[in-house]
Amino acid sequence: MSNIPVEIAEFANRCESKMKSGLTEEELTAQIRDDLEAVLDKGFDLPTPFTTPNPDHYVMYPLYISDDGDFCVASAVWGVGQRTPVHGHETWGVVGIYSGRETEKQFEKPTGSSSALVETGEVTWRPGEVTVCCTTDDDVHEVWSDGNEPCVGIHVYGANIGELRRRKYDPMTGEESWFVSTWAPIGVGG
Ligand SMILES: [Fe+2]
Repeated sequence: MSNIPVEIAEFANRCESKMKSGLTEEELTAQIRDDLEAVLDKGFDLPTPFTTPNPDHYVMYPLYISDDGDFCVASAVWGVGQRTPVHGHETWGVVGIYSGRETEKQFEKPTGSSSALVETGEVTWRPGEVTVCCTTDDDVHEVWSDGNEPCVGIHVYGANIGELRRRKYDPMTGEESWFVSTWAPIGVGG
């Protein structure tokens, strides 16, 4: 198994320290966003096993998972043209782009009534850019690789995202269903 970059290991340690320091979710995610921005700006090499697309669907590789499962850092890889369903996260999340380009379409979080989801915006993220992609109260979006090369993102979540049950939505009807994204085997996409 490939080792994760020391820059990511140190970043994960700093994040865990921040999580124990009594910050609000807004303060915590803002600090993690700024930290990840600095890490990406300084640069590091993510080994190929963590950047390998699967030809059939996007994949998430674990870079770091806390012992108690309340935090993780992932390498999320979208092959050219691949996309997620419209989905939520059930936790906070911070996403920074390592390579490629990702476009995100955001929606209002449904309140339970079955009706078409309401779009609230669309943003394209480029290498080095970082966003607080989701908070506990506002976490519904759809993401795709936007460009002619795969997109690799560093994703940070307040849960073990590969094992967390979360919602996906039919944007036309608002119908929701539950899924687990699962972790891909490192290097082979899964
Ligand atoms: Fe997402």
